[in-house]
Amino acid sequence: MEKFLEKLSKETAIAFKEAGYDENLGKVGISNRPDLCEYQCNGAMAGAKIYKKAPIVIANEVAEKLKDSKAFSSIEVCPPGFINLNVSDEFLTEFVIEMNSANKYGVEEPAEKKRFMVDYGGPNVAKPLHVGHLRSAVIGESIKRIIRYMGHEAIGDIHLGDWGLQMGLVIAAFKEEHQDMVYFDDSYEGEYPKEAPFTVSDLEEIYPKASARSKEDAAFKDEAMACTKKLQDGVRGYRALWKHIINVSVADLKKNYDNLNVEFDLWKGESDVHDVIPGMVDYLKKGGYAHLSEGALVVDVKEDTDTKEIPPCMILKSDGASLYNTTDLATIMERKREYNPDSIIYLTDKRQELYFEQVFRCAKKTGLCDPKTKLVHIGFGTVNGKDGKPFKTRDGGVMRLEYLINDINEKMYEKISTGREMSEEEARSVSKTVALSAIKYGDLSNQASKDYIFDTERFMSFEGDTGPYLLYTVVRIKSILKKFAENGGNPDECKITANVSNASHKILLMKITGYNEMMEGAFEELAPHRICAYLYDLANVFNSFYHETKIIAEENEETKKSYIALLKLTLGICEDCMQCLGFEAPERM
Ligand code: ARG
Repeated sequence: MEKFLEKLSKETAIAFKEAGYDENLGKVGISNRPDLCEYQCNGAMAGAKIYKKAPIVIANEVAEKLKDSKAFSSIEVCPPGFINLNVSDEFLTEFVIEMNSANKYGVEEPAEKKRFMVDYGGPNVAKPLHVGHLRSAVIGESIKRIIRYMGHEAIGDIHLGDWGLQMGLVIAAFKEEHQDMVYFDDSYEGEYPKEAPFTVSDLEEIYPKASARSKEDAAFKDEAMACTKKLQDGVRGYRALWKHIINVSVADLKKNYDNLNVEFDLWKGESDVHDVIPGMVDYLKKGGYAHLSEGALVVDVKEDTDTKEIPPCMILKSDGASLYNTTDLATIMERKREYNPDSIIYLTDKRQELYFEQVFRCAKKTGLCDPKTKLVHIGFGTVNGKDGKPFKTRDGGVMRLEYLINDINEKMYEKISTGREMSEEEARSVSKTVALSAIKYGDLSNQASKDYIFDTERFMSFEGDTGPYLLYTVVRIKSILKKFAENGGNPDECKITANVSNASHKILLMKITGYNEMMEGAFEELAPHRICAYLYDLANVFNSFYHETKIIAEENEETKKSYIALLKLTLGICEDCMQCLGFEAPERM
């Protein structure tokens, strides 16, 4: 379906043409002086330069031609040559009626369906998720959903950090305490136990200790590297133990991501490309792409147009070990072979920006990646505490995501269960739903690249630019619709009519018209915050309408039904937006 602003622009384009000017001057935008008009066209100003005429003259001539247009209820020329426009009720309602019956409220299906891979989450096995993992999960999930909503295919891959020294460290530390377990008996040929010899809490204790120790204790570090090598060489006992680490850790990660309403299609990890790395290295050498530099194997990726220093992309360290780069390049190669995506989108902290620039250039230059495949890195900012420094626990430690979520769930439960008649069970489930919206909206409403302050109190508030406020608005609409149904009405049979009752009614209708344009923009820019901004505006204009208009008490049956249909449309749009953001509203709250 056409965009509303395009439709308005068409009207003014015709007027420009009829007045003897270039029709491309007839672009209409939302007014930046809402006190003066609803829409505006500034084409006369640009036209003045081309036609060497005063803009006011052009504007007046165009306004004259617009007089008979059905689209506008008022056309006013303002010095030096603005054309201020108000839309007519008929034109406006006609568009909203069309939206109401269109698929996805007027968001078009793509001419060509594309395949996107979204690489997000990126947790490391055996380490608990901390607050730094929130953004990748929440933004990545939303981007995946936006892509799907737009009618494309999106494959979400968690890309686990499940290989390399971090695994060797856990194994080495465990080995020290359990020397005599079969996993470490190289002559053992039987089956290994099915049951893991540790729990996730054990792992969470082992890893940080081992990691800290390796920085001070050289012998231990050597042992961890030896364990890493044995694991990577495929020594059976080490592989078996590693499998246990993965299984225990992944089960726990699934639980945590479930709580965030985040779902991956692929649970692949760095380890999955281990076997293809030698072939890839060979290819890079044979193709003449890689060369030795101080013992390390590198690919030069700098370009003449660079304004900053872009160091070479390292493929193998001087001891022949692979690195983070190596696995990412091999993963690109495998993704091409298995999925041949049109685009791969990565979500990580923005401090990895240069790193991805190197990897992407290397992949393109060497042909590891198909020329048509777009590689996109979305680097996000830091989650800060109220003091403006990275979010920490009260005693200065890293905040575990699980604790943070539990804490907000608990606070929300207190809020919801006081002063409301709800069973304990319902209050628990409602507060979880609302808490999730607080966390996700608090994050997503910021432009991804910016840092933001995680302000629990503010995020949880039922007023202002927050998730709970949006949910509250949605619940309000649902309850009016329910009341209408209880009184014997059927919202599905209600129709929007051409009648516009008051100013806030018109503003609501105008906000609704921007939906398809906003959604397409959010997709083009991969920017969930655009949906958040729209949703917040929509909620505000809806609430003004609600406060100024009798809905259920409206006496004119046709008008009442038109309101109900408009509420249903508003609800549908809100729900689609929330679906794309990755949270939902309860039935009541
Ligand atoms: N595991 C990595 C980390 O903790 C993030 C992985 C991001 N994805 C990627 N393809 N490199 O930093």
